[in-house]
Amino acid sequence: MPEIHQTSPFPTVSWIGDASGGFLRLIDQTRLPTECVEIDCLDSAAVWNAIKRLSVRGAPAIGVAAAYGAVIGARARGTDDPKAIRTALKEASAYLRTSRPTAVNLFWALDRMEAAADDPGRAPGSPLLERLLAEAEAIAAEDRAMCRAIGRHGAELLVPGDGVLTHCNAGGLATSDYGTALAVIFSAHEQGKSVHVFADETRPLLQGARLTAWELQNRGVPVTLICDNMAAQVMKERKIQKVVVGADRIAANGDTANKIGTYGVALLARAHGIPFYVAAPSSTFDLSLADGSGIPIEERDPLEITHGFGRRTAPEGVAVYNPAFDVTPAELITGIITERGVVQPVDAETIRSLIGDSNAT
Ligand code: MRU
Repeated sequence: MPEIHQTSPFPTVSWIGDASGGFLRLIDQTRLPTECVEIDCLDSAAVWNAIKRLSVRGAPAIGVAAAYGAVIGARARGTDDPKAIRTALKEASAYLRTSRPTAVNLFWALDRMEAAADDPGRAPGSPLLERLLAEAEAIAAEDRAMCRAIGRHGAELLVPGDGVLTHCNAGGLATSDYGTALAVIFSAHEQGKSVHVFADETRPLLQGARLTAWELQNRGVPVTLICDNMAAQVMKERKIQKVVVGADRIAANGDTANKIGTYGVALLARAHGIPFYVAAPSSTFDLSLADGSGIPIEERDPLEITHGFGRRTAPEGVAVYNPAFDVTPAELITGIITERGVVQPVDAETIRSLIGDSNAT
């Protein structure tokens, strides 16, 4: 069995202290891989900024961070009066919802936090703030468990010798721990299956180069970094047998939003006859949307393209379009690996039977 290394020296998202005085601690992912440092968020503005500037990113990790952010925000009008706590929670939740639009896990987690505030049955007798912290801790713990289950289900799809292409980062940094797409790879690696990962660098913010390559190296998984525009050639050279990516929001028919460039990878996989898998927990499904046309796509600052990492790389004043996500149509997806098993074929009926409406937002 290969040696199992930790993904990172710190937890991606953690809570320090008690409900009335504690705070959210995050790895600042904008500084990886050259520096691994943590930041502490003491108010909801700090949590909002951490999500917006991608200090914490990846759909499940955003949801967990927002849940803890809701606990912090719920204290803004005092820590004793339940009415004041509920009012402050609603205000903080409305505010945190404006941080990023695409990953449904953000909205799902905040819905859960608001529901927990109105449901004394979940921890009878305990003060409201403690109930809220317990709910945030439950969201984080469930996410960890879902990631492990996704890894177990997904590893069955890989065979020794597979070359696996992934895009963006769907690893431990994008979740409470272990990841979704990378969980599949970590799990196969831990089972002793020799898989080799090709990581797209993922323009413009290089989550593949900075985060995925770093996580895979830390766990001792063989990884080769490629530029996004090399995927077609690498597939043609028969170095890729499977594609596995994460997701930010999956509509009821299986259309899947993920990092910009994912749709192109899916088209390339189809052209080369390579299975294309999405790995995501049930919290990433948005069954209120019939198909992907209703998924809001975040547009980010043009500076990410013209001045990536500080240096100007385009002429002054050039027009820029910077959508952060795209939607891969369900018909290009071979299967969706969830904690409940693999959705295959990817269609509304199979999704309904496996995911149901337990997570409807
Ligand atoms: O902009 P990001 O870095 O938050 O985008 C992240 C992705 O697109 C991930 O692939 C997705 O959230 C899945 S994370 C398990």
